[in-house]
Amino acid sequence: MSFSEIKHLASLNAYVPGEQPQESGWIKLNTNENCFPPSPKVSAAIQKALPTLGLYPDPDCQELRSKVASFHKLDKNQVIIGNGSDDLLNLLFRAYTDKNNDAAMLDPSYSHYPVLSEIQGSRIIKIPLTDDLDLDVKTLKNTQANILFLTSPNAPLSFGFSNQKLKEVVENFEGLVVIDEAYADFASENAVGLLQDYNNVFLTRTFSKSYALAGLRVGYGLGSLEVIKVLNKVRDPYNVNKLSQVGAIAALDDLEYYQEIIHKILVTRDQLRDWILDQGWKVHASCTNFLFMEPCDESGKISGDCAKSVFEFLKKHKILVRYFPKHSLTQKGIRVTIGTEQEMDQFKKVIMTWIEKEKLK
Ligand SMILES: Cc1ncc(COP(=O)(O)O)c(C=O)c1O
Repeated sequence: MSFSEIKHLASLNAYVPGEQPQESGWIKLNTNENCFPPSPKVSAAIQKALPTLGLYPDPDCQELRSKVASFHKLDKNQVIIGNGSDDLLNLLFRAYTDKNNDAAMLDPSYSHYPVLSEIQGSRIIKIPLTDDLDLDVKTLKNTQANILFLTSPNAPLSFGFSNQKLKEVVENFEGLVVIDEAYADFASENAVGLLQDYNNVFLTRTFSKSYALAGLRVGYGLGSLEVIKVLNKVRDPYNVNKLSQVGAIAALDDLEYYQEIIHKILVTRDQLRDWILDQGWKVHASCTNFLFMEPCDESGKISGDCAKSVFEFLKKHKILVRYFPKHSLTQKGIRVTIGTEQEMDQFKKVIMTWIEKEKLK
């Protein structure tokens, strides 16, 4: 007996996550994880919960939702928890798109959206970022889609839209606007305030980046009661396991620790940016825990060839970064997660060697 997959899946290009080497010795600057460990309170809470693993977790994540709600000064019913924010993005595609209801996304942004759309059998309309990294609201106004995915701060380009711009977007788009704020804790502005005035706004957040809990898989969504109710209909009942719930609660109980590590990351990021600019490379201003940088050759020319060469050279020296050759706005650059000071020193050392090698060409 043979089983054939549903027709539209035959041509699906599955999402390709950044490499996760299982052997030691690599400097991982490729998936925007936090370079610091999680708060010690997280492991203590997880240890304490271990004997209760025989029981199912709270299907409604009551305590975690209360914590998140009070952190953002929102109602608990405006919060939904996911198995990572990817889980919530998946629920949004399931609930708001199908073959007659399109999604839209900013291009370039998070490459998981088109995959989720394809799985759902819906169409995704790509709204191009302009060359100066802006969004033409007129294009948006004419876009017939049920839901828009807008990553701000942007991945992989690291810039953030101002709240003023986001307001314009929300006022000019007919459907639901999902603002993917995976990196918002590294930015000086976020869109939580928009929730008060607009019921077509939904925010996704994650514990994977600023809270150093990528391995625990916890994210959350903030939105109107109406949207949360719809998402709860399609959510797996036990989508967030017990250890993840207690771990995330413990993280929110140690905000002082997180403020400290975020501050350290921002200082290292800004120092690295200055250093890269000193080498004559281009680097976007960043609102995230990563930098998008465009290397140049000896004559000062920035090119896709340089980006590819730096990417491969770093890999040869056991440093992983991300390279996105498929889009005109990303093909000349590499995305580099901010690591510890020691990791950044090693990164700079290898870059210097690449630059020296270029001089000899
Ligand atoms: C923009 C963006 N959104 C969402 C995610 C998913 O994060 P998670 O599922 O770990 O919460 C990522 C992960 O890299 C991301 O870069």
